Amino acid sequence: MLLAAPFVFYAADFGRDGLRGTMDAPHYLFSASAPANAGIFSHMLLGAAITLLVPLQLIRPLRVRLPALHRWTGRLLTLAAGITALGGLVYIALRGTIGGAVMDAGFTLYGALMLLAAVQTYRHARARRIAQHNAWALRLFWLVLGSWLYRVHYGLWYLATDGLWSTPEFTGAFDLVQNFAFYLPYLIGVEIYLRRRFPSPEGRAKLRA
Ligand code: HEM
Repeated sequence: MLLAAPFVFYAADFGRDGLRGTMDAPHYLFSASAPANAGIFSHMLLGAAITLLVPLQLIRPLRVRLPALHRWTGRLLTLAAGITALGGLVYIALRGTIGGAVMDAGFTLYGALMLLAAVQTYRHARARRIAQHNAWALRLFWLVLGSWLYRVHYGLWYLATDGLWSTPEFTGAFDLVQNFAFYLPYLIGVEIYLRRRFPSPEGRAKLRA
């Protein structure tokens, strides 16, 4: 949580200034389109909040000792994750991303998966299908952390290679891979973990929606 704090503050500041229209300097994400601005800047503000909140939900002693807190944080989190995803999707539909078609595709899939995971996590919790709820919550956890991991990947890559295969327009080979690599490998990791944890077909059947 502490490691993600600088990104959380950056995203919250950026989102707040964008929504108020009080940014220090003009930015390409800010445009004359009010719905696009609302989408992109509200997604930053809510995205910052869910990045901060999502690790709390996985702390078992908190879930056991304070179930009401877990439920209320969960309701807020799934709602905010849904709006974050929708905000990003609206922006992409109206303006497209800086990196063009491949980045549009990577971020659209990211937003759609986050929306799906938020709905499924909430739906299964409401129906008391705890195994499915836990599985979707784990997927949602890695998707929410994805935006921070995106920056971590770039930071480490630039440190190691000084930006090899990366361009300011996000069209280098590294950029193209990154459009999917900040969430897909982590989701694959979750699926491997779930299959190991529930090796029998009956156990896996419990995880299906
Ligand atoms: C998990 C929480 C999220 C946080 C904290 C977050 C934060 C941010 C921030 C701070 C930026 C501005 C980047 C910069 O210029 O430095 C940004 C850009 C963007 N985000 Fe997110 N984001 C999140 C989730 C999402 C989701 C789920 C989507 C998918 C629809 C998305 C789509 C975008 C798009 C399309 C851009 C603009 C890309 C461009 O520069 O053209 N974000 N986000």
